[in-house]
Amino acid sequence: MAEKPVKALTEGEAVAEWAALVQIVLDANVAYHRDDAPTISDADYDRMKRRLSELEAAFPAIERAMTGKSPTELVGAPVADGFGKVAHRVRMLSLENAFEAEDVADFDDRVRKFLGHSGSLSYTAEPKIDGLSLSLRYEAGVLIQAATRGDGEVGENVTDNARTIADIPQRLTGAPEVLEVRGEVYMSHADFAALNVRATAAGEKPFANPRNAAAGSLRQLDANVTASRPLRFFAYAWGDLSAPLAPTQFEAIQRLKSLGFQTNPLTVLCDGPEAMLDQYRLIEAQRATLGYDIDGVVYKVNDLALQARLGFRSATPRWAIAHKFPAELAWTRLLGIDIQVGRTGALSPVARLQPVTVGGVVVSNATLHNEDYIAGRDSRGEPIRGGKDIRVGDWVQVYRAGDVIPKVADVDLSQRPTDAQPFIFPALCPECGSEAHREEGDSVRRCTGGLICPAQAVERLKHFVSRGAFDIEGLGAKQVEMFFNDPTLAVKTPADIFTLAKRDADNPLQKLKNRDGFGETSVTKLFAAIEAKRTIPLDRLIFALGIRHIGETSSSLLARHYGTWEALAQAIDESHNYFGRAWEELTAIDGIGAVSARALVDALHPANAERKEVNRLIGFLTIQQVKAVATESPVAGLTVVFTGTLEKMTRAEAKARAEALGAKVAGSVSAKTDLLVAGPGAGSKAKDAERLGVKVIDEDAWLALIGG
Ligand code: IVH
Repeated sequence: MAEKPVKALTEGEAVAEWAALVQIVLDANVAYHRDDAPTISDADYDRMKRRLSELEAAFPAIERAMTGKSPTELVGAPVADGFGKVAHRVRMLSLENAFEAEDVADFDDRVRKFLGHSGSLSYTAEPKIDGLSLSLRYEAGVLIQAATRGDGEVGENVTDNARTIADIPQRLTGAPEVLEVRGEVYMSHADFAALNVRATAAGEKPFANPRNAAAGSLRQLDANVTASRPLRFFAYAWGDLSAPLAPTQFEAIQRLKSLGFQTNPLTVLCDGPEAMLDQYRLIEAQRATLGYDIDGVVYKVNDLALQARLGFRSATPRWAIAHKFPAELAWTRLLGIDIQVGRTGALSPVARLQPVTVGGVVVSNATLHNEDYIAGRDSRGEPIRGGKDIRVGDWVQVYRAGDVIPKVADVDLSQRPTDAQPFIFPALCPECGSEAHREEGDSVRRCTGGLICPAQAVERLKHFVSRGAFDIEGLGAKQVEMFFNDPTLAVKTPADIFTLAKRDADNPLQKLKNRDGFGETSVTKLFAAIEAKRTIPLDRLIFALGIRHIGETSSSLLARHYGTWEALAQAIDESHNYFGRAWEELTAIDGIGAVSARALVDALHPANAERKEVNRLIGFLTIQQVKAVATESPVAGLTVVFTGTLEKMTRAEAKARAEALGAKVAGSVSAKTDLLVAGPGAGSKAKDAERLGVKVIDEDAWLALIGG
């Protein structure tokens, strides 16, 4: 969608857009890195991150406010529960992206400028493997630890699992005393297809793509499961080292190869941007026949002494860049436009297409985003696609980036049938007939039917049982739909899931085990899986409720802040007029904006039918409190706010340390704040603290308090 140029935004607009994008990108990070279930396309993700960087660069107010909050400063997502944690001795970083040939030339210019180097430089070029990165630590030639990237600082300990991967040597001869090898775990196309055939036959959910399959397989708590999955590994980098591997990147990779690692055979040396682009085209031409997914080409400065001089920005090295492949495109006929109703009532137009192959995948549906998009406008009413609308019968361009839902990107007016009519977006929900309302400033029209809308109800159930939520084994989207539509099973709301076994036992006829697709064993297993999820951590419960704007990040913030369901519910009940202490406390949670807070309070208003359903659900559950990380420290349980300039560490680091010690870090001072840590230049927050009688200390006193 066309965006207003950054220069045309007022500061207020920029801040609002920035805050909304931060939330989307943070949630997408969690979905992608932690839950292996991407929610947005790579291209959209990259676009949003670029936009964030532009906003941050153009508006000093954002730059000041963002320290530690913006995804542009982060790598990946927090680690999942269940694995031990490993602090990386050398941070595992991400790569800056390039999309166009000019970006590659700019990269070379920047590098040479930074180094004051007028001649040409040599770079390596190699495929960017679409898997997940892994760090392998060898001491005295023995593999002692394997860790995922996690958030770049702390990853998951997956040593037992990594040991089952044939490409990973257990012992090395002739390696430095300490050698941390980094590379990508991936799954080949053939192995992925075979795995999905097995999964489907066993009644399990197939994986969406090889990357998710690789990630899901590596992060199995039972290493025997990993062992049964055909994972592979390419080495392309290193972390902690007791002695250098070689003077250049290229030789270092060759050294890894001679130590017994798989290295990518398409790695070459280039003497400048032109040669880099040649190798890019060569790799792109082979992409479809490689037998594994790649999503671009990585260029790295070859001379390791120069790499060391170039160093790092906050999350990416200055000496490397990932040149991404463009999204894939094709033209086809638009046969019809269907309206799907989602979990939060959003009416989403879906293009029904004459099937067409886009980058090796047959596409017959694509998203059309919303009614403005179809009409040729963005959410602010500005024209997109030169103002061309999209009509049934049109010849349209379909665009597919990575593995996500394809989009209709453009329309060819010269091919428009003479009788094609503008599309009229429905004003009523096609599923339940309720009015579909569009709020001021929202590009989405939403069904106002709430729980009476069967489409919303079923989508909510699907969300409720999904991976990041209750994750009930054997109860996927297909079963949810069947149970919802079956009059005797009548699973209409999440609470009904927990009465299913009893209702089935009480029903002498039409038992579940006698139905198609079920049997004695699968039903016993399903009921046991449901039973097992009666005990659920608070953050998962909140997320499972599927409230608009309350994604996994917000759910976990709320759970950590309130600790118990009762405390959260009380806060909601006392906040329903968006006013008062409880409301202030809710909106003061760092990371919970007014939009999410309002959505939460509205959705669970004590008088709502939905709240009654949630209360019924709660009655069936044992909710586990989400604990702060440490409880022994002097700041455990305190709500702390940082303001002004910190001199000993970054705001991000200060926040991370405080949280690791069990403190809550808030963004603004309220009556609930225990401590304000104020550096030089502290402004309004210090005044707020004074007014509210909140204790104020400086950075040194804070460091003394937490023990340096
Ligand atoms: S180098 C300091 N080389 O891409 C940077 N990364 O978007 C070290 N990746 O986290 C990474 N293929 O998981 C490098 N040939 C390659 C790669 C590669 C895939 C992944 C890696 C990294 C991510 C960055």
